[in-house]
Amino acid sequence: MEHADTDALRPGHRRHVLITGAGGQLGVALTDAFAAADVTALTRGDWDVRHPLAPPPASLDLVLHAAAWTDVDGAEDDPQGAAEVNVGGTSHAAELGAPLVAFSTDYVFDGRKTTPYLESDSPNPISAYGRTKLHGEAAAGETAWIVRSSWLFGPTGHNFLRTMLKLGAEREEISVVDDQRGSPTYVGHLAEATRDLVDSGAPYGVWHVAAAGECTWADFAEAIFEAAGLDCRVRRITTAEFGARAPRPAMSVLRSEKDAPELPHWREGLAACLEAL
Ligand SMILES: NC(=O)c1ccc[n+]([C@@H]2O[C@H](COP(=O)([O-])OP(=O)(O)OC[C@H]3O[C@@H](n4cnc5c(N)ncnc54)[C@H](OP(=O)(O)O)[C@@H]3O)[C@@H](O)[C@H]2O)c1
Repeated sequence: MEHADTDALRPGHRRHVLITGAGGQLGVALTDAFAAADVTALTRGDWDVRHPLAPPPASLDLVLHAAAWTDVDGAEDDPQGAAEVNVGGTSHAAELGAPLVAFSTDYVFDGRKTTPYLESDSPNPISAYGRTKLHGEAAAGETAWIVRSSWLFGPTGHNFLRTMLKLGAEREEISVVDDQRGSPTYVGHLAEATRDLVDSGAPYGVWHVAAAGECTWADFAEAIFEAAGLDCRVRRITTAEFGARAPRPAMSVLRSEKDAPELPHWREGLAACLEAL
């Protein structure tokens, strides 16, 4: 695998960084984390990644590809639509010709493992979303860091934390799935770790970059209510009881067997996110 040691990526050089999906929760955090660069932050309105970018920008040093179809249940009903964004969009980002960070997901795994997933574990997605993300990894090309993360949350956009804050303020009890394990990852921490990974001259390839620690969605919900001072009980239910459209891996904790930047514990991410809200 080619080593990423171009002048353009050296810290100190004011590199030109293009961010896709800049209106999404990770895109917003990346725009902050790369503020020292010359950033072109493109929302969906600026560039629909299903089509090539015309005209392509000159002198790009780095592309951070955060645009994606992230509606996991919706992808079951429209896998072709999800693929147009997650596979076609990633091809178009790669075609820009600059080193690329393509974000991917724990949902490329089937969840049958009982210990955390490492970069060398074989993917086997069980949902349409996971399949499109895995094909998207292949579409990223040879000069790409594939950054897999999990259970993202942040102060903006649609995410579990924001949903819990809203429901927790309205209800006395809420039913939350307690048989899926993962590592809720704060987008601010992921964006900074992405910058550290790129700046370290890490080789291209797959990298697992997720928060330290692990929990179930029910554990996470309880921690959110406690940290936010909300008086809402969590009723622990199974995935089958919840009945979501798309299957999800029962265990999708990610760890790195490579020298990936280490992220703080998810509880620290929770505290940082509540502070940012
Ligand atoms: N969310 C998670 O739990 C999670 C976990 C692991 C990995 N990831 C990955 O992390 C990355 C960032 O996810 P996120 O949580 O920041 O998702 P997000 O908040 O849903 O952001 C995705 C962004 O992509 C935009 N988008 C959708 N279709 C597009 C298109 N055709 N052209 C251009 N932009 C388009 C969306 O715009 P609209 O809002 O207008 O649709 C949105 O702004 C994705 O690659 C995702 O697969 C996410």
